[in-house]
Amino acid sequence: MKRVFFIGAGPGDPRLLTLQGRDCLEQATVFLLKPYDETFAGLLSGKEVLVPFDYDYQPLLDLVRERLQTTDVAFLIPGDLTFYAPFQGIVDHFGERATVVAGVGVANAASAVLKRTLDLPEICERTVVVSPRTLGAGDRAAALQRLAGPGVTLLIYMNTFPLEQLVAILRRGYGRNVPIALLHRLTLPGEEVVCATLDSLVTACAGRDFFSRDQAGKSSLTLVVVGESLAAPVDGRWWDSKRKTTWQGKSQERPAGGS
Ligand SMILES: C[S@@+](CC[C@H](N)C(=O)[O-])C[C@H]1O[C@@H](n2cnc3c(N)ncnc32)[C@H](O)[C@@H]1O
Repeated sequence: MKRVFFIGAGPGDPRLLTLQGRDCLEQATVFLLKPYDETFAGLLSGKEVLVPFDYDYQPLLDLVRERLQTTDVAFLIPGDLTFYAPFQGIVDHFGERATVVAGVGVANAASAVLKRTLDLPEICERTVVVSPRTLGAGDRAAALQRLAGPGVTLLIYMNTFPLEQLVAILRRGYGRNVPIALLHRLTLPGEEVVCATLDSLVTACAGRDFFSRDQAGKSSLTLVVVGESLAAPVDGRWWDSKRKTTWQGKSQERPAGGS
């Protein structure tokens, strides 16, 4: 029986597609969004490629069913399904016939380019994933400010606040100057990473607008990461104490082949 795959496509560079994802694409009609039509072109040759947002829900389901008579169907999910993916209603509809393939989320790509673990012990006690778009109909600035604070790493997707306002909200939330990074078009042509602090970010951006929407009205490909975990120095003390209290006795569990 043909299947519907929901494939975590990663942040854009096809090298971050998993091997499982690549295999699932092989015999499929593919639904995708920009910029995957360009960056994945090498994996799409000879395939029917469609844009899911061209269809209302029911006509989209009908089209998928129709294609399932002859091919697998694959939805390329930007990043992956974990956060801010619009496909849940389609996954649920196809139930047993749907397979979700994990991918490299944008947060993972950000951590890699920053070379930072975002929940550093003793520095960050909570990592909060948020988008101003989904903060409800009330005062979104106040809602975001409440989530920001000492010990929190914030990952802000789909920012809608102008840069100056975003910085002012975060400054009130954290109550002090903390590191912030803007990660624009990660793994794509034109990638830019701005590492600054709340007090220096506006100057560091030098008038560039990383949050403008594209011509289709879609939010820009910029992730914001905020918090002490971006820059706090990490020495060997945590490693040694953890080894003493937790890891040391585990040496019997060495993987086969270890010396
Ligand atoms: C609908 S969300 C998709 C998130 C995705 N499902 C994930 O788990 O990574 C779109 C938002 O993700 C971020 N984003 C997506 N691709 C990106 C990229 N290549 N570079 C930086 N941010 C990106 C931006 O904040 C953008 O507004």
